Formats: sequence, structure tokens, C-alpha cells
Amino acid sequence: MSTRERAGKLRETIRHHEHRYYVLDQPEITDAEYDALVRELQQIETEHPDLITPDSPTLRVGGKPREGFQKVAHSSPMLSLDNALTPDELRAFDNRIKELLGHTDYRYIAELKMDGLSMAARYRTGVFEQAITRGDGSTGEDVTENARTIRSLPLQTKRTEPFEARGEVVFNRKAFDRLNAEREKADLPRFANPRNAAAGSLRVLEPAITASRRLDYYAYFALDEEGRFFFDSHWDSLEFLADQGFKVNPKRRLCANVDEALAFCAEWEAERDNLPYEIDGVVLKIDSLPQQRQLGFTARAPRWAIAFKYAAQQKETQIVDIGVQVGRTGALTPVAHLEPVAVGGVTVSRATLHNEDEIGRLGIEIGDTVLIERSGDVIPKVVRLVRPGAERRPFKMPTHCPVCGGHIVREEGEAASRCINANCPARLKESIGHFASRNVLNIDGLGDVLIEQLVDKGLLKSVADLYTLKEEQLAALDRMGAKSAANVIKNIDRSRTLPMPRVLGALGIRFVGERTAELLADHFGDLDRIANATADELQQAQEVGPKVAESIRAFFDETHNQELLGRLKLAGLQFTHVAPKREGGPLTGLTFVITGTLPTMTREDAKAAIENAGGKVAAAVSRKTNYLLAGADAGSKLKKAQELGVAILDEAQLLTMLGGT
Ligand code: IVH
Repeated sequence: MSTRERAGKLRETIRHHEHRYYVLDQPEITDAEYDALVRELQQIETEHPDLITPDSPTLRVGGKPREGFQKVAHSSPMLSLDNALTPDELRAFDNRIKELLGHTDYRYIAELKMDGLSMAARYRTGVFEQAITRGDGSTGEDVTENARTIRSLPLQTKRTEPFEARGEVVFNRKAFDRLNAEREKADLPRFANPRNAAAGSLRVLEPAITASRRLDYYAYFALDEEGRFFFDSHWDSLEFLADQGFKVNPKRRLCANVDEALAFCAEWEAERDNLPYEIDGVVLKIDSLPQQRQLGFTARAPRWAIAFKYAAQQKETQIVDIGVQVGRTGALTPVAHLEPVAVGGVTVSRATLHNEDEIGRLGIEIGDTVLIERSGDVIPKVVRLVRPGAERRPFKMPTHCPVCGGHIVREEGEAASRCINANCPARLKESIGHFASRNVLNIDGLGDVLIEQLVDKGLLKSVADLYTLKEEQLAALDRMGAKSAANVIKNIDRSRTLPMPRVLGALGIRFVGERTAELLADHFGDLDRIANATADELQQAQEVGPKVAESIRAFFDETHNQELLGRLKLAGLQFTHVAPKREGGPLTGLTFVITGTLPTMTREDAKAAIENAGGKVAAAVSRKTNYLLAGADAGSKLKKAQELGVAILDEAQLLTMLGGT
């Protein structure tokens, strides 16, 4: 046998055993025998790199680190699902289906709703080609190399025409507990739940890390190249996927009616803690594709499917201590340290208490036994006091910051106590984390561990210091190589080119999220102009009301924030912005303010209609307002408009302007 033939034979054998082990859970050989096969193949591939094929199982160990993730458009939108929270809601859904299908027969497929993250995997000529996260549903991130390390994802399929599998990446619960224990030892932050751990493991730049986490992939949809289903029955498509080598959850059932579906939901709710992965409910899908087509979609979700969500899981445990965490705004969040307890198969040892008032409302003290709740993707919280501890002591908010020793202040009317030292390292770390995060300045590679080191070593005293960091400084840190250092510097450099609204959002001004930053940028066009605008001027931007305007003003009134802005400008970040023009609409160039109750439209509808026609909607009336759209019970805005002589419209007049009847 030639070396090429031997390599081919080994691949085939390894693939067979991977499928037995990772997909079917029925191994035929020992781990050692399997390892020996992989080692032999690796040996051949090292000696003859030209013999490596893209679907070789040796590539599952994780290749070289990536420099960021490419965005990729989905072949068709990855939608989400509407929820039913009670059996009654599920029956209501079923009644709608019955009506819409004109009382013809239909069947449901009930599947477990695994709590991970959805991912599309594309195949061409029978070979795994690309994996994409859900992202915002229309575009996701290319995580091909990381997905390749998931042993239950086939690298080869029988079907040779292009197709796409969609399914869920999940983190095994036991592995999750083990990972968290290791992270705790290494002084790394714990993952809050298996779903976050799955997401964190799939979205790391180093595939070898993904490989070490042992993720699992369950497929639940098969689509053709255009993103369309190509089976007439969903059940058949699941069988097809299983036949192609995918792991398809065997815990699924064809149900003749809603009662059978509800029985399935109840059975698995009772069993959910015994499953190796987390589930947060059951997904019901209409089996027949022609019927699915007949039912169609809403903007958000298919009408032919629904998620029946299980209630959050609760457990009693004792509060051993209450600590505080310092956030980006300096706010102190009390955190209950708990006697570790398994809730739905995952160990919980921390729960948030939000703020001092919440502790008062719950009436809890250290030493008490409390009920805690964990639901899927949220941080565990304390629900109520069960029993006061025999020895209990009240929690007191510290007078000084546990991180920097700065003064803690609680302002009148505020729920949160804050550290007022603007240079508090805890605040700084959080601020940098926000600055670097994906939807903000997207500095891949600048994660918590690195930020921690940079701040503790005094290399970062302000966010602006990022732009003077040297590659050598980074390379000298723990767990950083020359390559990762170069990568981080490259990503920092790239952030200088990101559009102005991102820079504005990066500042971490309270109430200024992604959307508000966009709207402010559209209105002002220049970051310095926003920084210098009065509260009144700020309110001329769409959706900016007095609270947001005040917060922006307060931020830029701080001298150190002005300094920060100056330094970011010098560093070459984008300070100007050209608003996208919705030209040609009948309301282009006109500014509206909406007040009172309109006869048929909600204010949101009116706003959307005005914006779609090219107009703008501001929160407060000023001389720049062209029209006040006034409904019933209009108050101070109407008075102001009358004083300023602003034209006043009713809904009918607006509709005429929009070109309706
Ligand atoms: S169907 C448009 N089936 O739940 C159809 N989703 O709330 C949407 N999920 O984003 C997906 N198990 O991440 C479907 N058997 C299953 C599922 C499942 C888990 C997740 C998926 C989706 C979310 C919808």
C-alpha cells in the first residue's frame, strides 16, 4: 500500500470510530487504540504535508490562531422562535395553527430545546467547508477552524451537492463544572452557565482552546445552497442529517396533536436534570413543509414553530458572605457568596443581589438560607429569604472601595453606591473591557486576563494608553507570545478606522448604547460637537430625551473625560461621521416631535413612518422643529409649540403628507 493509500485508509478508519464514539456514543475500540491511529496519521502528514486533506481528522486539534473573525452572510435568515410559557399558551398557539391551516390534519415534531448557541455548517462536494455563528441572524462570524475541532461535527458527508446543516453547539454540564473549577484555581473568571461557556469557547481566536473544551454539535435543520429546506417533512430531514453522520438528538417525537406534544414537554421537564446538556424547553415544529409554507413567517420567527419554555430552576442554599463588585461606572454590586449548590445540574456559588435596596427588600443577612434561581443565560439571583440563619449579620456597604480604597458615595434617589475615584483600577478594567468588546471597538485578543495584567502592571492607566502600547510590552506578559502581541496591536490599530458612533459608544456614557450613539452621530456629525452641545441641543437628536442629554453633558463636563477625548483624537480615532441619507422620501429635511395619544397609530408606528419617509423625530420642541404631531391629551409640548409658532398636525394630516389617503 502506498503512503497516500495508507493515509486515506487511516482517515476512513478514524472517521468511523469518531462517529461511533462522538455521535452514536457506542465506541468499538479503546481510547488508546484510537489515539494510536491518530498518531500514525499525524506522523504521515508531518513527513508528507502534501498528503494533508482539508477533511483530515488530524485538523481537529486546532490549527494556528486567527486574527479575528470574518463576517459572513447567511444563506437565509437564522430566525428565532416565539415562546409559550404555559400549557395554555401552547394550546392557544395550536388553535392559531388549526385556524390558519383550515382545520386540515397536521403533526408536530417535538425536539428538546438545547441551551447553547446556534451555528450553520456548510458542506460542498461532501466536505465540511465553513461554519458560521448565528450573529444577528442575517450575518454571523466565520468560526470554521474552531468548529472543525468539534468531534461530533462530520468533516465529510455522503451528499456531494452543497448543503447546510443548522444546529446547536452545546457544552456538556460535567465538563462545564470541571472547566469552572479549573478557572477558579487559575484565578480566571467563572463562566456563568454552560451556554456562555459554549459561546466563549467557540469564539476564541485560538482553535486549540476550542479543541480542549470538547463542545458538541446537534443538527436540527438541513438547507440547500439557497437556504431552503429540501425535504417535504421535517422528520425526514432529521433522518437525512443522522444518515450524513450528524448527531441528531434521538430524544424527539412525532406528535399527532397538542396533547401528545404537551406530554413530551412534561416528560422531559421531569428528566431535564439527568441530561448531560442543558435544555430550557421543547421546540415544536409543524412536520409538513407544504404546511410550513402555508403558515409562513412573522418578521421575527416562523409561524410554524414555537418554543415551550420551562420555568427557571430554584434551589435553597446558605449565604456564607456578601462581597461587592465594582463595575464600569463605579457602581458597587453586592454579590452573595453561596454554599455551592447544584441547580439544574450546574454548580452555583455566586448570585447577584443588585443593590442595597434589594437586600433590604429581601430582608436577608449573611448566614441566612435563601432561595436562588437560575434560568438559562442569566446570572443566578436570590429570589427570597427562606429561613434566617441562627447566627446572622447584616450586610454593610463598604465606605471605601474594596479595589482602590476610594470613597463610596450613594447619591440621593440613586439605587447604586459608587466608587468616585475615576482612576479606580476596577472601573478602568471594566471600561477597557467595554471599549474592546465586539460591538464597540472590537479589539479581538484584548480579553479580561490581558486587561487585568496591563492595569495591574501600570501599563494602562487610561483607555487612551491603549494607543501608545508597544508590541514588546505585550509580548513580555504572561501567556503572550510575539504573535498574539502583534495581533492585539494590529487590532488596536484597526480600531482607529472604525466609524465615529463606535467611538462615542466606547466612551461608556450612561444611556448611550449603540443605537443612541448612531442617532447622535447622524444628528451632529462630529464628536467634538456632541461633547460641546448643551443639554437642549442634544435633545434635538432623535430619541434623546432629558435624562440621556443630562448624562452626556455630565460625562463631558468632567475634565478627565475631556482629556480622554483629546487623547483619542490625537491617537487618530474617527471623530466625524456622515449620516446615511434616506433621500427622496416626502419628509426629507423635516423634523417632527410627537405628543399625546394618536387615534389609530402608536407613537412608535408614527415615528417609524416619519423616519421611513426621510423625516426625523426629536424628543423636545424647539425652533428647529418643523411640525408637532399632536394627539389627545397633549400637554406641555403643545403649549411650547404654540408659543414658538411651530405648525401642529393631527394623525390624518400626517398620513396625507406621507402620501396616504
Ligand atoms: S429551531 C427558526 N430547534 O433555540 C427556527 N432551535 O429560541 C429556530 N434551539 O436560536 C431554531 N434547540 O439556538 C430549534 N431543536 C431545536 C433547538 C433550537 C435549541 C435554540 C436555537 C435557536 C433558539 C430559538
